[in-house]
Amino acid sequence: MRKQIAAANWKMNLTLQQGEQLLNDIVAAQNTLNDNQLAIFAVPFPYLTMAQQKLNGQKNMFVAAQNCYNKKNGAYTGEVSVEMLQSIGIQYVVLGHSERREYFNESNQFLAEKINICLEYNITPIFCCGESLQIREANTQNEFVRKQLTESLFHLSAEQISKIIIAYEPIWAIGTGKTASNEQAQEMHAFIRQQFAEKYGETTANEISILYGGSVKANNAKDIFAQPDVDGGLVGGASLIATDFVTITNALK
Ligand code: 13P
Repeated sequence: MRKQIAAANWKMNLTLQQGEQLLNDIVAAQNTLNDNQLAIFAVPFPYLTMAQQKLNGQKNMFVAAQNCYNKKNGAYTGEVSVEMLQSIGIQYVVLGHSERREYFNESNQFLAEKINICLEYNITPIFCCGESLQIREANTQNEFVRKQLTESLFHLSAEQISKIIIAYEPIWAIGTGKTASNEQAQEMHAFIRQQFAEKYGETTANEISILYGGSVKANNAKDIFAQPDVDGGLVGGASLIATDFVTITNALK
């Protein structure tokens, strides 16, 4: 059975002290997750170790990095390698967020290299995909997302692909307060799963968790997560408020 996942993306927010307080409050309020549910916190690099310490001993709660570089090591001032993340015990990395694609020009090919290196070091990528408003209005979102998947992921083996988590995040819904409707989310998630089924077979496709991201809030998470192909969410703004994120985690199937 595929995992149901509430993933927090703090982006470039919070001081260390605010982050500590947030995790304290979440841990205090969070019910124990069941075997099939995960909560993952993608925190800024300087807070990775703090977050691991706060979540130590909490069942199915993990820390993720928000990015990594595509090279193993070397003269790349300011970058963070997968080996560094592995050496401090990080198991998840968010890759291909639309903000990185837009502001840092990350291409599908560049992301494929990052995916490869993560898998080499046994780190699970949370791979983000999703279209802009312009593409949605032109009704070419399926082709666009298919290209993202094909160019970044479809060189992988079935065994490798089953280690990846997908996050579908329509750009027009990120930070706008405007979510995709339940139907729009389900339709795209089913389309994404179908792409995996065609390439890797139904059994593999059915094991891949596909999260929805884009204005997931305490008051809409339950309905979105109830869609059959939605396996949880990647949450920005609402993940910065302890009670909201706990409510979102409690909305997992
Ligand atoms: P919001 O939940 O703030 O819309 O952000 C979504 C997102 O980008 C998560 O990665």
